[in-house]
Amino acid sequence: MSRPTSGLTSSAASDRGERPSGADGPESVQRTRNVAATEEKAQSGTVLEFDDVRLSFAGVTAIDWVSFAVGSGELFAIIGPNGAGKTSIFNVLSGVYRPQSGRVAFDGTDLIGKRPHVIAQLGISRTFQNIELFANLTVVDNLMLGRHHHHTYGTLAALAWLGRARRSELANRAAVEDIVDFLELEQWRRFPVGLLPYGVQKRVELGRALAMRPKLLLLDEPVAGMNLEETEDMARYILDVRDELGIPLVMVEHDMGLVMDLADRVMVVDFGRPICTGTPREVQDNPDVIRAYLGEEHRTQGGAS
Ligand SMILES: Nc1ncnc2c1ncn2[C@@H]1O[C@H](COP(=O)(O)OP(=O)(O)OP(=O)(O)O)[C@@H](O)[C@H]1O
Ligand SMILES: [Mg+2]
Repeated sequence: MSRPTSGLTSSAASDRGERPSGADGPESVQRTRNVAATEEKAQSGTVLEFDDVRLSFAGVTAIDWVSFAVGSGELFAIIGPNGAGKTSIFNVLSGVYRPQSGRVAFDGTDLIGKRPHVIAQLGISRTFQNIELFANLTVVDNLMLGRHHHHTYGTLAALAWLGRARRSELANRAAVEDIVDFLELEQWRRFPVGLLPYGVQKRVELGRALAMRPKLLLLDEPVAGMNLEETEDMARYILDVRDELGIPLVMVEHDMGLVMDLADRVMVVDFGRPICTGTPREVQDNPDVIRAYLGEEHRTQGGAS
């Protein structure tokens, strides 16, 4: 089914304890490997650079010298066991956590030290591992909240300069309608989000993130808890975000079928460290990845042994 995209395209083109001692090679080897991963830039220009980032909480190293880069047309996936540091990477990217060292740049702008709302204004928006919507508000009102930083007027201006305030409000409403069409949410638009099926709520969360007109979208477990049909629907929307809206994505997900089908490149992390970054096939055939995370059944047919 084809959906209108014109209004949207305009802006875009376990917790666990300490690491076992000696879990990996020497730090220098690890860092060399990470730099190599960063240098493997995506084909069409780099929008996001995450270089040698380290983040630890008392006694727990959540991100241990992680480097990767995301290209402008790319769907980049991050996978790994529970507690591997995936959500922490997202929290660094969105300004929730400040790493002890490293460099994070989006479109050439340094992100470390910037507050979450500033990073959102720069064009990075995200969905959460656990749905974070206003359950009592309707779909449309939740999507409108995603537009809040696009209001171009304050309260006084709204009173004193009605024309501009009205135009801004109408533009935001139109943007939300584009998203309702794009994500096929028409039948749910007036329902309080808390009453909707789980898969639809996850879709509304994607919509709220899209309402911010992002230049980069971070999806934390977008299909967790979904049934097969909901997962297939979500997969289609994710691909459409990349291909129709031209928005690059970073996706954390445990559903390996989805990751291997959708991602352009995949980074595998374990105990905060990257094990391997490459195409889905390269990752599935990597012995370290198979040992640490995937298991033999995920090796691609005819892949290297
Ligand atoms: N705010 C925090 N304070 C203390 N420890 C934290 C904090 N945030 C994350 N951690 C720890 O950092 C490690 C990585 O957690 P993170 O949530 O990033 O893992 P994850 O890969 O997203 O796991 P999951 O697949 O279960 O969502 C875990 O050991 C976690 O307990
Ligand atoms: Mg997580």
